Amino acid sequence: MFRTAIQRLTSSSSIAAAATAFGAATYAYTLDNPLSASAKAADDSSEMDAIKAWMKETDVKLAKLEANAVSSGVSSFMDNSKATNKIDIVLGAQWGDEGKGKLVDMLGMHYDVCARVAGGSNAGHTIVVDNVKYKFHLVPSGILHPATKCVIGNGVVVHMPQFLKELRGLKEAGVDTTGRIFISDRAHLVFDFHQAVDGAQESKLGRNKIGTTKKGIGPAYASKISRNGIRVGDLQDWEYFEERFRALVSSTMSQYPSLNVDVEEELKVYKEIASEIKAMTIDTIEYVNLQHKNGARILVEGANATMLDIDFGTYPYVTSSNPSVGSVLTGLGVSPNKLAGIYGTVKAYCTRVGEGPFPTEQLNDYGEHLGTVGAEFGTTTGRARRCGWLDIPQMQYSAKINGYTALNLTKLDVFTGLKSVFIGTKYVDADTGKPIHGMPASLRQLYKVKVIYEELPGWTEDISKCTAFEDLPPNAQAYVHRVEELIGVPIRWIGVGPGRRDIIYRDV
Ligand code: IMP
Repeated sequence: MFRTAIQRLTSSSSIAAAATAFGAATYAYTLDNPLSASAKAADDSSEMDAIKAWMKETDVKLAKLEANAVSSGVSSFMDNSKATNKIDIVLGAQWGDEGKGKLVDMLGMHYDVCARVAGGSNAGHTIVVDNVKYKFHLVPSGILHPATKCVIGNGVVVHMPQFLKELRGLKEAGVDTTGRIFISDRAHLVFDFHQAVDGAQESKLGRNKIGTTKKGIGPAYASKISRNGIRVGDLQDWEYFEERFRALVSSTMSQYPSLNVDVEEELKVYKEIASEIKAMTIDTIEYVNLQHKNGARILVEGANATMLDIDFGTYPYVTSSNPSVGSVLTGLGVSPNKLAGIYGTVKAYCTRVGEGPFPTEQLNDYGEHLGTVGAEFGTTTGRARRCGWLDIPQMQYSAKINGYTALNLTKLDVFTGLKSVFIGTKYVDADTGKPIHGMPASLRQLYKVKVIYEELPGWTEDISKCTAFEDLPPNAQAYVHRVEELIGVPIRWIGVGPGRRDIIYRDV
């Protein structure tokens, strides 16, 4: 029976069928089970034994997690806000890549609708199905839960070929997306020439480059703000689309004469895209508000992060949208009174890709440890991430802007083996030693702040098997308590390992 289930899980073309075999919870973490691919060739009994052991271990862990949650008075990894149908939001609290995807994946099954509200294919998360990696940049992670509907809101900029490629990848993986994903007719399109302009702008900046993902995000938002951008809904009025497209290419070419755009070929491609996406293109403002009115639970999957926000981030080393909480209102078309849980995701340390100030960066063995043990390479660009200690002034600023109701502290296990861990608690002026209040807008000032650190004792114990806060070594608990105290927001989830279920839930 067990063997049959494993075979169904790994050889079936339908992930939904696999979900039925084991239940939705098992289904979610099976996707990145490193053993699942080898299960195909699992006639070998030692391999079967390994799989059985892994399943048993994960089941025990899951049962313990649920038991902890239930004994704390909640029925799962959620707070009591799940009794209402207010909108919950998972945001990146630092410079991105905090590990939002894992929480969204885990919470996803509790929601009816999962939405993206800002950014574009500069964001990214990886899903492994049967040992095949699928990298997603635009499709919300909620798509992996068969009952969840996904929405790409009006605030997102969409590169249609990338989006359709992701849908094809999902189909190959056995995920049926039919009737489950909708794109706002007001979302703006990112064209290949936007990406070419992104690259050209970076080359022009030379040493002063932003370090963008070259996904055309800045140029596409620039078209939107200049009011010559083209929206997803325009594709359904071909004459209008063609007219706007020719005008946009012509104005872009006047600024970048060396740009090579085959207008007729592009129009052919987009004519096909127009019919392919017709059924998915809807008024998402009506849809989301109606879903909300009918009692649906909605989760917003934030992209990028607060310190990359065009208004609040380290400008100009930022992205071109508002990844902070405001984008939920402007990028989805919902009112503020519908918001409930605002969950900030923060790494136990700090990373950043691209250029720009990074006060707690560690260009030393500590930075090396964090980057190597934490496998800090970008999903979208593959670039090595810069690493440093947790930056409290940055997190206090981020909490002020977003009003986090709880934090998701990720990758605490990366500290295992360090004799000491450090927290950047204050910025002071490097020349005068005077404290700096708030986050300096001036990059010159931010580049030269001196960070005051607090040193805490590390631990050597493997924490990846811990399922309750009390299971953590006392020094790890002390770190969590100190971070909580300094930021002033409760830490509800703690990431203790790379697996999808390696998260501790605390009823705070
Ligand atoms: P853009 O969004 O491609 O224009 O890039 C602007 C800056 O934001 C660059 O430093 C990127 O590396 C950074 N960035 C954009 N999206 C992400 C993300 O999801 N994680 C981390 N950094 C990002």
